[in-house]
Amino acid sequence: MEKLYLRLLENNKTWVKEQLDLDPAYFEKLSKGQSPEYLWIGCSDSRVPANQITGTEPGEVFVHRNIANMVVHSDMNMLSVLSYAVEVLKVKHIIVCGHYGCGGVIAAMKNQQFGLIDNWLRHIKDVYRYHHKELDAIEDENERARRFVEVNVQEQVHDLGKTSIVQNAWKRNQPLHIHGWVYDINDGLINDLKVTFTCTKDLHKVYHLD
Ligand code: CO
Repeated sequence: MEKLYLRLLENNKTWVKEQLDLDPAYFEKLSKGQSPEYLWIGCSDSRVPANQITGTEPGEVFVHRNIANMVVHSDMNMLSVLSYAVEVLKVKHIIVCGHYGCGGVIAAMKNQQFGLIDNWLRHIKDVYRYHHKELDAIEDENERARRFVEVNVQEQVHDLGKTSIVQNAWKRNQPLHIHGWVYDINDGLINDLKVTFTCTKDLHKVYHLD
């Protein structure tokens, strides 16, 4: 039982062999550096792996994942990933991808205490408050949770636009599009919410930074 993890190391050897069979120079090429065009901000949920669900390969997507795909302005981890992706790698697209059935979002709808994580969930509760009129009007709890997942992604797209990192890139005329997507764990399909931000004027003017 406790040796089950060894399967992962065995899988790794098999995978290396498969890659080398396809292309003997595979790792040599990857070792030279990365120039991904996408930054993915997704949920830590084990069912939503960025590369697999988008059919992308190692080297194509720079990834940041946390509970409920949040963009929290005091999160040094997120800011460091964002800064490196935008300023050094110069990714062209940032994708915030939530998912229906997100445990973090569902927990944020409840009043139960969960412990330390409550401090993280509070950011998601704030999103509920911004959208409470629309969300409270949805009677079916499952439908309300699905819509909450969508508006949470929309807010994270906004939150990325509010950062000086993103606004300075736009100021330099660096092409940078921010997208909001929701993955459906029920059928594997991604729903493009079409909330794409491409410049500072997509934000309310109170957020514009000179
Ligand atoms: Co989730």
